[in-house]
Amino acid sequence: TDEKVTISKGLEGIFIADTTLCKIDGTNGKLWYRGYPIEVLADKSNYEEVAFLLLYGHLPNRHEMDVFDARLKDEREVSSEIKEIIKMYSGKAHPNDVLRTCVSALSTYDDDMSDRSKEANLERAVKLIAKLPTIIAMIGRTMRGKGFVEPDRSLSHSSNFLYMLTGKRPDKESAKLIDLMFILHAEHGSNASTFSTLVTGSTLADTYSAVVAGIATLRGPLHGGADEAALNMMKAIGEPDNTEKYIEDALAGKQRIMGFGHRVYKAYDPRAKVVYKYLQSFMKTTTDPQIEKLLEIAIRAEKLMEEKLSKTKGIWPNIDFFSGPLYTAMDIPSDLFTPIFAASRMAGWTAHLFEYWENNRLFRPLDNYVGKLDVEYVPIDKRQ
Ligand code: SDX
Repeated sequence: TDEKVTISKGLEGIFIADTTLCKIDGTNGKLWYRGYPIEVLADKSNYEEVAFLLLYGHLPNRHEMDVFDARLKDEREVSSEIKEIIKMYSGKAHPNDVLRTCVSALSTYDDDMSDRSKEANLERAVKLIAKLPTIIAMIGRTMRGKGFVEPDRSLSHSSNFLYMLTGKRPDKESAKLIDLMFILHAEHGSNASTFSTLVTGSTLADTYSAVVAGIATLRGPLHGGADEAALNMMKAIGEPDNTEKYIEDALAGKQRIMGFGHRVYKAYDPRAKVVYKYLQSFMKTTTDPQIEKLLEIAIRAEKLMEEKLSKTKGIWPNIDFFSGPLYTAMDIPSDLFTPIFAASRMAGWTAHLFEYWENNRLFRPLDNYVGKLDVEYVPIDKRQ
């Protein structure tokens, strides 16, 4: 039958499930995790609490927090084989690809892959949330010819990451900034990488296979890779006075400015506002000329984009635009930005996966065939 088919490119506007994990108000630029405004969690909470909130549905009481925190700390170490993979591939492939490979390998340590109980899956989520920062820090160290720094139980989740990466225990300010970035990247509804995780999980594949799909999807510059791309653009601009010309030329050439635009936000991404606020307060206490230059370039680019695209086409800064300067302020190299995004979003991916499995249905959309039918088969010797 040739009934009228309407294709929703990129599944724009299509609802796939009910959720209580996250609400995004794209019109007004607002975001809640389990009903808590992102600004409140950014200022008052920490990543361990937010991960618990996403996985268990409520903020932990003191006892629940102590138990969850201890479980995460118990699971920070990685095996010698994983360390071998890191040594083998770091520097030869993008850190995100090394990370994806290590996460695939993690599944081989699972004591019982056939156990699909909620408890077993929550245990897998704890292992994944705990181990990714260790793997990423070890990749970063190996790429720069440095030895591994083993996890330190006295440090929080995100501070321990920074410690394993830099070898230095972060000061109070850096500890807050890195934890802020982990909180802001933890969850965001049915974005592309979460959707990949759900599509894979909807076949009843295991938790590891589902999050490996998520990590692979996050890799692209239109999604998780935008923060690295946005910083590279700022570095290419080089001097603040080059900003306007660079952006105008890019827009004239129909180029996309990384860190701007969003399928759902048609207003300023509230997470970008939070990053910007903390970046500004950071700048009041440190005089790092490189960061000052990056920030000035970012602010001038944002002003110009606001005139050119925000008010006219609803293209506003997203979380990836100011992240680069902030990570740079913590001496985090840009090729680790997407892996950090994956480490943080592991909470959102697993929380969505377990929520979806409560009322699972295989994802199987349609595509509209527009080719020929019943074509005659010609033997190869008779073909042109
Ligand atoms: C994340 O989904 C999520 O929630 C993701 C995320 C999360 O937390 O999981 O929020 C994280 O991925 C943030 C987004 C990071 N990506 C980027 O910054 C890459 C640059 N952004 C664009 O590629 C784009 O805005 C997307 C991919 C984010 C959204 O794309 P859409 O909704 O498919 O929009 P589109 O590609 O159809 O563009 C609509 C128009 C086009 O112009 P026309 O062809 O109609 O003339 O807007 C233009 C686009 O060219 N446009 C841009 C632009 N983004 C869209 N023009 C210049 N610069 C941009 N950044």
